[in-house]
Formats: sequence, structure tokens, C-alpha cells
Amino acid sequence: MDVEQSFVIVGCRLAAMVPEAEPLLPDAAVVVADGRIGWSGRQEDLPEAFAHLERRPVHGRLVTPALIDCHTHLVHGGHRAAEWEARLRGDDYAAIARRGGGILSTVAATRAADEDALVASALRRLDALLADGVATVEVKSGYGLDRETELRMLRAARRLERERTVTVRTTFLGAHAVPPTHAHRPMDYIAEIAVPALRAAHAEGLADAVDGFCEGIAFGPAEIARLFAEARALGLPVKLHAEQLSHTGGARLAAAHGALSADHLEHATEEDAEAMARAGTVAVLLPGAAFTLRETKAPPVEAFRARGVPMAVATDCNPGSSPLASLRLAMTMACTLWGLSAEEALAGATCHAARALGLSDRGAVAPGLRADLAIWDAEEPAELPYRMGQPLLHGRIVGGVPC
Ligand code: NIG
Ligand code: FE
Repeated sequence: MDVEQSFVIVGCRLAAMVPEAEPLLPDAAVVVADGRIGWSGRQEDLPEAFAHLERRPVHGRLVTPALIDCHTHLVHGGHRAAEWEARLRGDDYAAIARRGGGILSTVAATRAADEDALVASALRRLDALLADGVATVEVKSGYGLDRETELRMLRAARRLERERTVTVRTTFLGAHAVPPTHAHRPMDYIAEIAVPALRAAHAEGLADAVDGFCEGIAFGPAEIARLFAEARALGLPVKLHAEQLSHTGGARLAAAHGALSADHLEHATEEDAEAMARAGTVAVLLPGAAFTLRETKAPPVEAFRARGVPMAVATDCNPGSSPLASLRLAMTMACTLWGLSAEEALAGATCHAARALGLSDRGAVAPGLRADLAIWDAEEPAELPYRMGQPLLHGRIVGGVPC
């Protein structure tokens, strides 16, 4: 152990997010050793082996795993405030999309933005997430719909990791909408654009996973299955925007492909939950999108609970359906709108979010895991979703480094 880079956080209240541990341990200590958790538990039980390490008191503050935002579209050009106002006046998300607005209008703005501009605008949103205790963020492509722009988005996403102290996981979302060049020919778009772009992204090491939008206004199960086959050939995990606006069979398709996650799910059924449980597919709940679109259907939370489907919570930060850059507020919405407990919401933004990204090295405070921690000016985990809009972050420790 490198003593220089090792220390003990003492005097904390610890929500370790480890199933067998107490939900909140008062008078706790956490050993950070060489970027990893060396030990955590009751401070009075601190093993002799760590007694010589520097002690950093946090004076009763709450310590949790750093938060993980497992579904975002942080990198994009422009914004859609006018479209949002039109929806306030009664316009409809799917109708706007069918007229060539919606995702396609962000595609035009993103194609017009160079990589520096994409990074600069994404950093503003990323900084808001980091101020909420996030240390790992997933970022999707999907506003290029051509090879060049999809790759530029992914390169911009990778650059975020060099600009800030954060882990970025990139997801290729080439199947997000059908561009006008391929109107009514979605399978041709998959074959001619999405698959070659995915291969190019993979060759450049730009894609950690593959995603699609399975919906009436986007792609059907057959097109998504074609893309997933390519992902499998490349050895990449898959995930899917599924059952958001209607029921199309996306959740079961995702489960059949062993997807890491199916996301949105407001229109999912008990049978979908059953299939996801069997496949070990995480349900990623995106209440910011449901709130923004005034969706009245809720995802089948009770069915997920009953079958042990892990529920993650994410912002879905994007310019159309969820202009939300606060993971804590997403947690609040998951509780208030859909009945998650505060503890479920925190699990959704930590351990279950890690699983939705296929990351087994983080999301909890346990020996051997990455030392990604959030220290809060709070006494208990429920304050994170309860205190809406109130800054609570005291500091983050990322890979063992305080920042
Ligand atoms: O996750 N559902 C599809 N994609 C995004 C919305 C994209 C947009 O409207 O720009 C989502 O909600
Ligand atoms: Fe999304």
C-alpha cells in the first residue's frame, strides 16, 4: 500500500449500498488505499493494519458511493426550448417528430457543431451533474445519424473524461431516428449507415455499448435485432430505449439479447418484467422524460420489485424529452411520481446504475471497489432526493483522489 495515497475517512455516517450491510452506519470509517476501498465499517472496529494512516475527519457527514448517471445524451448541438413551449400549448412529442422536428432538429444542430463546440456545451451539463455527486456518466451518440457526426459525438464524449475528473462510458446510438434520406426505409438505414458507423466507432475504440430507440416513431424490433446482431459480432453489450411512448416489444427483445438494460419502460408489462428478470436486464427509469412529456403511465415498478429486477434511475439528459442535468432531481421524481423509496432511488443511482453499465468495480462502498465516494452535507440518504434543488455536495473522491 502506498501510504502517500492512502487515508481513512473518519467520523462519517455511511450508506455503503451493500445488500448485507446496514442501510446507514453511524460512526463509520472508510479506508481509501491506492484508489480503492481498503476497508469500511464501524470506526471502533478499524483494523490495526490501517491505524497508522492519515485520518481525515468529516464531522458526521453522510458518505455514499459517488453517483452514476447511466443514461444521458449530454453531447448534442442546440436546444429545443421552442418545441417545449409548443408542447406546453398542446403539441405532441411524437407528432413533432413525425413532422421532422424533435430528434431530427437536434441532428441538424449537432451536424453543424464542431467537436470543440460539442465538448464546450456538454461540459456545462456535465459540471451540473458533477456538482450533484456524479463520478461516472454514460454518454450516447444518436444525433448524427451519419458516420462522421456519430463518430464526432463519441470523440467529444471521450474528451469529457480528459477535461474533468469523471469516468465516461460511451454508447453508440446510431439507431435513434430514421433520417429523411432513408424515410420509410429503416432497415436500409441500419444496413447502410448504422452498421458501418458502428464498425468504425468500434475500430476507433469509441463505443462501450450499443443502444437503439425501439418505438413507432423510430425503429421496430426487426431493425434493432439486426443492429444487436452486429453488436454481438463485435463483442459489445447492448441496451435499449424500450416501451417509452407505446408497447412495441422492445423490453422483451432487449431481454432476449441479454441486454444490460432496458430504459424508459412506462408502457412495459408484467410479462416484460418477467423476461427482464430472467435475463438479468436492469430497468433504467427515466422520470425526467416522463415528467417533461407529461406521461401519465408509470413503469411497472411493483412488478420489477416483485421479480427482483434491479431498478436504476438516470437523468436521460437530452434537449428534447428530458432537459434535466440533476441526478438527484431524477431520484426525487422516481420517488414522488413512481413510488420508489429513497433507498431504492439511491440504489438506482449507484449500484444498479453500475450494473446497467456493466461495471462491477463501483457503485458501492466495499473492499476492493474503486474509491468513488460522495461526501454530503446531510445526515441521511433520504435527504438526497428530499431536498430538491438544495446543494448538498461537500466533496467527491474519485479513484481515491479528493476533488
Ligand atoms: O431518451 N427516446 C429517445 N431518445 C431520447 C429523446 C431524444 C430527444 O427527444 O432528443 C430519450 O428520451
Ligand atoms: Fe434517452
